[in-house]
Amino acid sequence: EACFRIMKTDFLARPVYVQREDRIKAHFLICFISLLIYRLLEKKMEKKYSVVIAGGGSTFTPGICLLLLDHMDRFPIRKIKFYDNFAERQETIAKACEIYLKENAPEVEFAYTTDPEEAFTDVDFVMCHIRVGLYAMREKDEKIPMKYNVVGQETCGPGGIAYGMRSIGGVIEILDYMEKYSPNAWMLNYSNPAAIVAEATRRLRPDSKILNICDMPIDLEEKMANMVGLKSRKEMSVGYYGLNHFGWWHKIEDKDGNDLMPEIKKHMAANGFADALSGTNQHVEQSWIETFAKAKDVYALDPETIPNTYLKYYLYPDYVVEHTNPEHTRANEVMEHREKNIFTACRKIIEKGTAVDGGFEPDAHAEYIVDLACAIAKNTKEKMLLIVPNEGAVENFDRTAMVEIPCIVGSSGYERICQGSIPQFQKGLMEQQVSVEKLVVDAWITGSYQKLWQAITLSKTVPSARVAKLILDDLIEANKDFWPELK
Ligand code: NAD
Ligand code: G6P
Ligand code: MN
Repeated sequence: EACFRIMKTDFLARPVYVQREDRIKAHFLICFISLLIYRLLEKKMEKKYSVVIAGGGSTFTPGICLLLLDHMDRFPIRKIKFYDNFAERQETIAKACEIYLKENAPEVEFAYTTDPEEAFTDVDFVMCHIRVGLYAMREKDEKIPMKYNVVGQETCGPGGIAYGMRSIGGVIEILDYMEKYSPNAWMLNYSNPAAIVAEATRRLRPDSKILNICDMPIDLEEKMANMVGLKSRKEMSVGYYGLNHFGWWHKIEDKDGNDLMPEIKKHMAANGFADALSGTNQHVEQSWIETFAKAKDVYALDPETIPNTYLKYYLYPDYVVEHTNPEHTRANEVMEHREKNIFTACRKIIEKGTAVDGGFEPDAHAEYIVDLACAIAKNTKEKMLLIVPNEGAVENFDRTAMVEIPCIVGSSGYERICQGSIPQFQKGLMEQQVSVEKLVVDAWITGSYQKLWQAITLSKTVPSARVAKLILDDLIEANKDFWPELK
């Protein structure tokens, strides 16, 4: 009304008397409307991202898809695509996600495909979580070493080596598709075994825009935050060094610089990480709870640092073998629970034609992937643990090793945070393990039986070269559709 009165005054160029309050009101109104238009334009012009999830048929895909939708305010998305080389498996997951997206974020374009050109054209981020050989091969990775009383684990020991020999080719292929069809995109890789995959991409694609990351330290940091009464790990500042699934925290402080290690150490000495089970729907089954409890014994070996849970496979292999049922390993548990539940939920959503009450939940544990994408997209300079070439960040360790250390992440990639020199105990273990990882990559590149035999022999989980050879020969037979031919 005030505006109108002023406009009328001006347009008719008649000297109508306008009250002072009217003018003030009019100015406020104009300011408010301008601000609103500015905000709307800003929102409209804000860059929105196109994401492809490689390994679209993964059990983690629905959770990650929902998580992306939950974080659109900080990481806006215009398109989500799924890519997989197994059409049928992906289709079940994709059709259910498509229904969910239509109901919850119809503005986001969605597609799924097995065609690399369609998948990787016009993307800003590739989120890569493939499992070459599926759970059927994970089961063999776990059961073959167990035949010889050796740890059978997805990413550690001979099982991890076998998985690495399958994953390298798959991840390199996806990286090449990305570089061919969207050369400016970034690949965020969490396909396992991340240590071997990272070493392979360092060697074979040194200039690629790939960042390798793992969720285990994140989950453990949440537990430690919980131990000291903090709401989130983001309220802590940490020092950490190691290889993937093979590392230690050497410093944990709150934001005011108070040392939190003494309190965390008390919990570790009493119950490992089992004191602070909390949070997300990942790592909740009994076998994981035992792993969190066993961290007490891993911690006892070096009470100055807090260990990653995966070290139990290297430091207590005899215990692990004794406590593993060789007929029913973690792969069986996952097939019977996570895989079955996810696929059943998807089929139900497809059948009903709606995802309302469909049992889909955002994968809260995977928020780190959004943090990482955001750090690159928005230059947030967030401190995150990444698997990167050492280059002196761990001073007294191989410069060419792929180490897991804190980095600052921004739009041009990462900057390492130097972790200083590490103690003899950790250095010795890491030198042995990094040699295993490097020998696996050598074996894959050159097709060398000898190098792979050396890699398995060198693994701390394996008692002798004789046992290593027996396991290797079984693994070659089981992996003949996946590994390069070894001579
Ligand atoms: P999954 O078997 O359910 O799914 C993997 C998908 O990858 C399958 O649909 C399969 O067809 C597809 N695939 C295999 N090879 C492919 C290729 N060459 N190209 C395209 N697609 C391919 O497996 P999952 O349990 O959901 O795990 C997926 C991956 O994520 C695994 O590597 C797992 O180890 C990893 N993971 C990593 C972390 C971490 O913190 N780093 C956490 C969880 C899972
Ligand atoms: C942790 C690790 C991942 C691994 C997962 C296995 O999150 O960091 O690298 O893939 O555990 O969990 P699962 O439930 O498949 O045994
Ligand atoms: Mn991991």
